Amino acid sequence: MINLSERLKCLAQFVPNGSVVADIGTDHGYLPTHLVLLGTCPRAIAADINKGPLEAAQSNILQYNVQDKIDLRLGNGLQVLRPGEADVIVIAGMGGGTIRDILEASPEVALQATRFILQPMADEKELRAYLLQHGWTLRDEELLLEDGRLYQVLVAERGQEEIGESILLEIGPRLIEKKHLLLSVHIRRLIEKYQRVLMGLQKSTQEVALRKAEHIKEKIGQLRKIEAELLSSH
Ligand SMILES: C[S@@+](CC[C@H](N)C(=O)[O-])C[C@H]1O[C@@H](n2cnc3c(N)ncnc32)[C@H](O)[C@@H]1O
Repeated sequence: MINLSERLKCLAQFVPNGSVVADIGTDHGYLPTHLVLLGTCPRAIAADINKGPLEAAQSNILQYNVQDKIDLRLGNGLQVLRPGEADVIVIAGMGGGTIRDILEASPEVALQATRFILQPMADEKELRAYLLQHGWTLRDEELLLEDGRLYQVLVAERGQEEIGESILLEIGPRLIEKKHLLLSVHIRRLIEKYQRVLMGLQKSTQEVALRKAEHIKEKIGQLRKIEAELLSSH
């Protein structure tokens, strides 16, 4: 078995038994190798836009003797897939904007998948907004802390979900609903991030910077309110 990082283990737990998974931007190929070794997936597709990562994936796949069950594909995003070929699409370790662009570029493939498992490194709010605006619902969300970094995992399935307040999209509606154990850490980090942005903006006397500062202050206020509600509910 592979000694998988906590982050990749977290992604793996959302892959339903018996599904064919496509790992887009697979790099080392650890996730599909693990899922096939475990028997969760009868088959998998490991894809990457760059040759080097795909060669690394090939070497790991050969090492674990799963080459008959994993297809390696070189190419951009979902363009390597035929519609319906993968039940579950995993895109992890890239910016939220890149993930959104990948989904947007191949609607015929994206729409045939039953589940996306996404782990953006930034711009989570924009990715959530994109999903909800395009007929996806957030089935689940996870937070995990590894080496001091907080990662967000979004699990999306086809469905309708109302786009709530912008701040909820920023935090993660399912994380709030399930009062995730790391939610207070997540909110605190968001507050600290916006406080740093605010300090920068307040050095400026330009009208546009001052308007932006007001918006950031409002956001910090909303985050503090949610943080206080969370503390009082414990
Ligand atoms: C930081 S690695 C993440 C690897 C793995 N998914 C993980 O989470 O550990 C990002 C990988 O995505 C690949 N990549 C970036 N843009 C891509 C795209 N548009 N299509 C496919 N792969 C892409 C890169 O070559 C790189 O191997």
